Amino acid sequence: MKKIVVLTGAGISAESGLKTFRDSDGLWEGYDIEEVATPEAWSRNPALVQEFYNMRRKSVLEAEPNAAHYALAELEKNYDVTVITQNIDDLHERGGSTRVLHLHGIITRSQSSINPNLTYPINGWELKMGEKCELGSQLRAHVVWFGEPVPMIEEAARVCRQADIFILVGSSLAVYPAAGLVHYVPYEVPKYIIDPKIPYISSSDFIRIEAKATGGVPPLVTELLND
Ligand code: APR
Repeated sequence: MKKIVVLTGAGISAESGLKTFRDSDGLWEGYDIEEVATPEAWSRNPALVQEFYNMRRKSVLEAEPNAAHYALAELEKNYDVTVITQNIDDLHERGGSTRVLHLHGIITRSQSSINPNLTYPINGWELKMGEKCELGSQLRAHVVWFGEPVPMIEEAARVCRQADIFILVGSSLAVYPAAGLVHYVPYEVPKYIIDPKIPYISSSDFIRIEAKATGGVPPLVTELLND
């Protein structure tokens, strides 16, 4: 089976009602990332950070996958598909994708604040201060904060190297190391980008589909399934 690698960003979840980062001019629900999405923010005010991610988790649980998520899952009928996502929502999984690599973590799980390898499912939207890991440390959202390492990046690069087809959906390619993954895709394989405002990409060999995810992904999937 041919391997398809899909790299997604916040744009694929926009039509599910989850705001993209840069479309809300760099504020998340009115917060600056330095206040809520860095290790310094956590040591300064853990309760605020916890509350911020509780509010985002609530919106994620209230959101539904959209036609783009479902279409990508359909690809698995004829292809060996890996979705590499920068998103911390679980919409790809709920949309039916079975191999999803979360570069920046996933908000529906918690992690120990002293050992990031210890992660746990979160039931419902709220993770409370006082909830501890098995080592007795406060649990935090299982997400990669700015300034933290991206543990899955080597695996993601390995996956991109093996792509026979590459699809980029809904990312501004503004954040590294995720944005650098496009350079691991072999030059000769077909590459597609789907975005209503196509971001600058140094490699010019992308097939550009200037559309929202729900408008651009399903027809591309139909074309690939009919190949
Ligand atoms: N369909 C497809 N793409 C869309 C849609 C849509 N309906 N609406 C917006 N977009 C595009 C925007 O044009 C932009 O290119 O989605 C992209 C969103 O870019 P960002 O908000 O920068 O999101 P992303 O690229 O995922 O950000 C990367 O930065 O915010 C941090 O860690 C966070 O994972 C995130 C990373």
